[in-house]
Amino acid sequence: MAFTFFFRDQQVMEQLVEQSLPILAGRSHPRVWDAGAATGQEPYTLSILFAERMGHFAFNNLRIDATDVESTGQFARTTESGLYPQADLARLPEGILQKYFEPAGEPGQFRAIEKIRRRITYQRHDLLSLQEIGHGYSVVVCKNVLLHFQPAERAAVLTMFHRALAPDGLLATEHTQEMPGELTSLFQRVSPGGPVFRKLTGGECQ
Ligand SMILES: C[S@@+](CC[C@H](N)C(=O)[O-])C[C@H]1O[C@@H](n2cnc3c(N)ncnc32)[C@H](O)[C@@H]1O
Repeated sequence: MAFTFFFRDQQVMEQLVEQSLPILAGRSHPRVWDAGAATGQEPYTLSILFAERMGHFAFNNLRIDATDVESTGQFARTTESGLYPQADLARLPEGILQKYFEPAGEPGQFRAIEKIRRRITYQRHDLLSLQEIGHGYSVVVCKNVLLHFQPAERAAVLTMFHRALAPDGLLATEHTQEMPGELTSLFQRVSPGGPVFRKLTGGECQ
């Protein structure tokens, strides 16, 4: 079982969503890729944070593509159903449980409401295939995954994210992630010491 939880790294996720709003606003069908999304708590966190900050129409055009290498189908089933035991929802900020979840399934379970569930798609994907799932993403989130890879694999996956991102798109990783020296022309850190990087497309200062 992959370790993850709702609203993990809440401050960074809130800043990421805030910083990405102007980028999303310029697109009719903005897309976010959550790579290594495990059982869905992270893409649901994103969906809730975007729902809190985007207008109804813009939010309904957003798509969050959640991917993971897990092959039994369990991560897909959990993410697609949006069903979680109450214990998993204990860390939700004040008011979020009542607003975005409803009792469903077995006793003690809650389901994410349709509004935020419909924004999320799940597909199996191995980051080490180095084949991006698409292009033009406004945001890529890949947290607590790259640290398991070898340095050369990490650089190749980050280069793939650069291909997948739209110009000016944002990449969020975990705090401990350093940008490999050979990739400093591809990404610029958004805030000093922070885990969010902006895609560079050439000609920008670093
Ligand atoms: C610790 S969990 C992180 C979950 C979530 N991103 C978070 O930060 O809470 C790591 C996830 O990375 C996935 N993973 C590991 N290797 C992967 C690969 N090669 N391609 C895609 N996902 C991978 C694992 O299956 C697991 O779900």
